Amino acid sequence: MKILLLEGIHMCAKLRLEEMGFTVQLEKSALSEEELLKVIAPFSALGIRSKTQLSAKFLNAVPSLIAVGAFCIGTNQIDLKCANAVGVPIFNAPYSNTRSVAELVIAEIISLSRHLMDLSRSTHSGEWIKSAQGAHEVRGKTLGIVGYGHIGSQVSILAEALGLRVIYYDVIKKLPLGNAKSVDSLVDLLRQSDFVTLHVPETPLTMNMIGDEQIKLMKNGSYLINASRGSVVDIGALASALRQGYLSGAAIDVFPLEPKNNKETFKSEIQGLKNVILTPHIGGSTEEAQESIGHEVAESLIRLLKYGSTLGAVNFPNVDCPPYEGSYRLINVHRNVPGVLGKVNGIVSELGGNIRAQYLSTDSNVGYLIMDIENGAAEKIYQNVKELGTSLRTRVLGMS
Ligand code: NAI
Repeated sequence: MKILLLEGIHMCAKLRLEEMGFTVQLEKSALSEEELLKVIAPFSALGIRSKTQLSAKFLNAVPSLIAVGAFCIGTNQIDLKCANAVGVPIFNAPYSNTRSVAELVIAEIISLSRHLMDLSRSTHSGEWIKSAQGAHEVRGKTLGIVGYGHIGSQVSILAEALGLRVIYYDVIKKLPLGNAKSVDSLVDLLRQSDFVTLHVPETPLTMNMIGDEQIKLMKNGSYLINASRGSVVDIGALASALRQGYLSGAAIDVFPLEPKNNKETFKSEIQGLKNVILTPHIGGSTEEAQESIGHEVAESLIRLLKYGSTLGAVNFPNVDCPPYEGSYRLINVHRNVPGVLGKVNGIVSELGGNIRAQYLSTDSNVGYLIMDIENGAAEKIYQNVKELGTSLRTRVLGMS
């Protein structure tokens, strides 16, 4: 099988896929949809990053495409609904950069506490401001983590190693790691913390979850860190609290309005304030994270192409299945209407096949069926199942 990787995906993905027997073509840049349509026919899977757009028009025109690997976090460059409807699972790597974000937050906690950015800037420009005033160790201070998921819990572990006392607030009951303690409400967390760091997703509930009212509940002289989503903080309210000196500093990586590319200018009312670290949404942007994304998505494609596993697909019924031995594996994506399983079973038994194992998962649109079959007329079974009016994508693995 051939796989096309676009947009300079990390070399580790190519090497791993080749090691598993696939032929891989790696291209440095993105292709337009028209260009892609001209070259895609021989490829069973496509790897993209954020620049390649996959619209319904493209997805409807590629009947031999088995899967798409989005070698990034987001998948809004792909029409996921259409990919589901035509039977193409999409994989991404949502947690490959977790550690990178957590490390940035730790760096920021110490930097804010020691005013590192301002001191570096003034020393670069020839000033010599040697003073201990307002500079603090972080040991013994309280870190409040809002959202104790993948990133929040990593921050928790690293922060405890620095001697911070960790408390957290999450809408779901989460197992505390190390000595961290959960608190009952956001209000409790804001009142107790010297540093507040936000690690929640963008949802209607988290929209402006830190605004004027919440900032007033924070300790005078405390710090706010946001490397989650720009919509979570009312940036105007934060800028005003910093200007008034109510908060001692902030580190912000994400903004309500971010430039679309590196050529656009960035403007925000929080620019130019003292002890405020601003970064261009680079929390997860490290070479290690890129490599980790390469590994994670390549493994997902391998599991799908070699065994049929859709575990981790963002738009598709998830089925995990063990490798098959002594049988062949029929994989059928079909429209989720009543009676499909009965028809497929009927074809297999009519043609002398013996079903050794069967896995089925469905969502409201499609069903994903995997059958391990021994004996029978394999080629004919494949053809007849493929020709069912309900079938979207059908393939067979291990047919001799
Ligand atoms: P996750 O899904 O593992 O964890 C999020 C946690 O927030 C969950 O435990 C969830 O229960 C909790 N939560 C949801 N709504 C909440 C609410 N209203 N109040 C309190 N807790 C709530 O997500 P992960 O991977 O830890 O990512 C967290 C955030 O970081 C996301 O917004 C993501 O977009 C962002 N992110 C930013 C990056 C950057 O470059 N700055 C890179 C990667 C992720």
